[in-house]
Amino acid sequence: MKIAVRNIVKSFPHNGANLRVLDGVTLYAREGEFVTILGPSGCGKSTLFNIIAGLLSPDAGEIWIDGNPVPDGRGHVAYMQQKDLLLPWRTVLENAILGLEVQGIPREEARVRARDLLARVGLQGFERAYPSQLSGGMRQRVALVRTVLTGKEILLLDEPFGALDAMTRMVLQQYILRMWEEFRRTVLFVTHDIEEAVLLSDRIYVLSSRPAHVKEEVAVDLPRPRQVTDPSFVALKGRILALIQDEIKEAFAHAREMV
Ligand SMILES: Nc1ncnc2c1ncn2[C@@H]1O[C@H](COP(=O)(O)OP(=O)(O)OP(=O)(O)O)[C@@H](O)[C@H]1O
Ligand SMILES: [Mg+2]
Repeated sequence: MKIAVRNIVKSFPHNGANLRVLDGVTLYAREGEFVTILGPSGCGKSTLFNIIAGLLSPDAGEIWIDGNPVPDGRGHVAYMQQKDLLLPWRTVLENAILGLEVQGIPREEARVRARDLLARVGLQGFERAYPSQLSGGMRQRVALVRTVLTGKEILLLDEPFGALDAMTRMVLQQYILRMWEEFRRTVLFVTHDIEEAVLLSDRIYVLSSRPAHVKEEVAVDLPRPRQVTDPSFVALKGRILALIQDEIKEAFAHAREMV
């Protein structure tokens, strides 16, 4: 097991009370596995990633990496947050090498490695551009390159394509798959998009609405490359959609009871 998250509990103070966000979330990823966390908006997915990345402490629960409990995943994970967080005053190339700089890799070496990866995601010729001169999809590619370049064994990708149009999304999905197939890092990926989850993942965890717990674990046993129109693809998508619809219905019924 590369990473295991066990019984993570987290509440935030809210209007003088405690808002329970994570209600004992347990999940894992094997080495090199692509695992997606699918859940309704506001259920606690980013909170979970913030805890794994060591930006927040859980109230209870543990994170294990390579079979050992660790206080958090810091040092082991690279985290691509929901907002791309590129530095506006740095060029594409300088943004891409940020993680390498922090690790003390010599600048020239860092630049060579970044140029190579930028070219592989179609950003050749944009190394000297500033983030404000890029489209949303291009910015996300820079952020993705920066995350992969850190060389960490585990990548946390929080809705990397959330704000993009469908076509740009399709292109970026292919880039991410290509990078994953080449580097075989362990990926934890968050999305709202069922089709994206089925297209990319080895396994999917469907979370409940807040407070989040794992509602179901779904193995995606479809050969790659996958075709979204394939009957087995469509069937699996339908099964997951039904799970999520159930969850939404339950959440609505619960909300009505509270009124
Ligand atoms: N630092 C914080 N302080 C207080 N409440 C917070 C904090 N961070 C998150 N929350 C609350 O926790 C809940 C879950 O937020 P989170 O961002 O983890 O959801 P999410 O599943 O990532 O949603 P989305 O899919 O919209 O990105 C929300 O109700 C949010 O208001
Ligand atoms: Mg989020």
